[in-house]
Amino acid sequence: MEQQLTAFIYPFILFVVLGVIVPMILAGAADKARREAAAEEANKPVEKSLYDQLGGAAAIDAAVNIFYRRVLADAYIKVFFEGTDMTRQAAKQKAFLTMVFGGPNNYTGMDMRAGHKHLVEKMGLNDSHFEHVLVHLRATLAELGVGEAKIAEIITIADSVRDDVLNR
Ligand code: HEM
Repeated sequence: MEQQLTAFIYPFILFVVLGVIVPMILAGAADKARREAAAEEANKPVEKSLYDQLGGAAAIDAAVNIFYRRVLADAYIKVFFEGTDMTRQAAKQKAFLTMVFGGPNNYTGMDMRAGHKHLVEKMGLNDSHFEHVLVHLRATLAELGVGEAKIAEIITIADSVRDDVLNR
């Protein structure tokens, strides 16, 4: 009788340990690891968009206003804007830059290729004019106190649409 009991008890204990306790421990450990990973993710500082780093809508407004004041004072490129409604243009540029800098996407204007095609074909828009625009963009950002590293980042973004603007 005692032998029969022993023959039953040991496999039973083994069954309880392997079948119930070990899986419970493993599940607990997995759950803890998952919770720790989630907590770590939640604490990670979110990389702010360029739009937010610059100061959001107010900063873009100020930048575009200063930028076009400079552009229209530049005898070499102001001719391109002679037939342009500058209030609408500034609004489009604000929406475009907001989108490019990672802010809300409300841009409904033309893409860069279509938007400048007539300027290339009818007025000879080329690299020399593009360079002037970059100089004004850089000066605008410096005037607003944007740091050199951030200015370099923005100029690189602006330069990335050069081939589209110049339709090539
Ligand atoms: C980083 C480079 C540039 C960007 C991001 C840019 C952005 C824009 C945007 C968003 C528009 C509105 C498009 C539309 O009408 O839907 C536009 C139009 C215009 N852009 Fe540019 N542009 C750039 C370079 C230039 C350059 C180099 C010139 C000339 C010097 C220029 C002259 C104009 C003019 C005159 C218009 C208005 C055209 C019209 O009234 O029909 N842009 N640009």
